[in-house]
Amino acid sequence: MPVLDPSVRPSSDLQSLFPRNVVVMESFAEGDPGSLSAGEAACLGRALPKRVREFAAGRHCARRALERFGLTGWDLRVREDRTPVWPEGFVGSISHTAGFCAAAVGRRQEFRSIGLDVEIALRVTPDLYTAFLTPGEQAAIGRMPSEAADKMATLLFSAKEAFYKCQYPMTSEWLEFADIEVDMPANHLDKGGLNVRPARSLALEQKFPLPWHGHFLIFGGFVATGFVFPWTER
Ligand SMILES: CC(C)(COP(=O)(O)OP(=O)(O)OC[C@H]1O[C@@H](n2cnc3c(N)ncnc32)[C@H](O)[C@@H]1OP(=O)(O)O)[C@@H](O)C(=O)NCCC(=O)NCCS
Repeated sequence: MPVLDPSVRPSSDLQSLFPRNVVVMESFAEGDPGSLSAGEAACLGRALPKRVREFAAGRHCARRALERFGLTGWDLRVREDRTPVWPEGFVGSISHTAGFCAAAVGRRQEFRSIGLDVEIALRVTPDLYTAFLTPGEQAAIGRMPSEAADKMATLLFSAKEAFYKCQYPMTSEWLEFADIEVDMPANHLDKGGLNVRPARSLALEQKFPLPWHGHFLIFGGFVATGFVFPWTER
């Protein structure tokens, strides 16, 4: 039995974003650069110490998730496009934000792709709305009180990042924030489902038909979103 590191644990919060056969691990601890393999460390080049710790925390969560599938000691290197090289037969996603890191992993035979994003809850303030939100999204948010608006803006940002991370391994397509629109949850609860729509023709439409459905959660000062694309053809 591998010795479990107490700083990394199954995430009961983020698990609610994914089917049960996706393993989600989280950590509130700083990553230990000493835990990286030589191959992983080499992928970082001359990164700043903060980035090295963040990268190490992500690898730590991902390794613990892979252990749940019986894979130990996996070297999780980085492609030129910055995507992690998951072991053959697995897909996953890593996200880090200040003070928190998580990884979600599933079997490739069940999922074509997984996308996870976690943000600090009020990260997207009005000065950033035009950068991340479409005019329609801004108009809907403009009708809300300011704190609720920032929380919703952060949720839309997180949804776009998680969706991007889920679609990219299937399409290799770069997306701008204006290329997709998020249908906001009507009742503004702290958890639930949301849909992403294309605002232009996207490569994903040829690979995975609409609706593109994800789940979100607002918890402990964070906003998180998860997408999975299973193999089912619709
Ligand atoms: C990939 C990206 C979405 C990361 O989001 P972020 O909120 O800054 O950072 P996160 O910590 O949540 O995620 C970073 C992790 O995503 C993964 N990642 C990086 N590029 C990725 C890609 N193209 N596809 C999937 N996952 C990717 C990596 O595991 C990375 O962590 P690591 O470098 O430590 O391994 C972002 O940096 C990016 O490349 N954006 C460009 C496209 C975009 O944002 N378009 C608008 C949205 S539609």
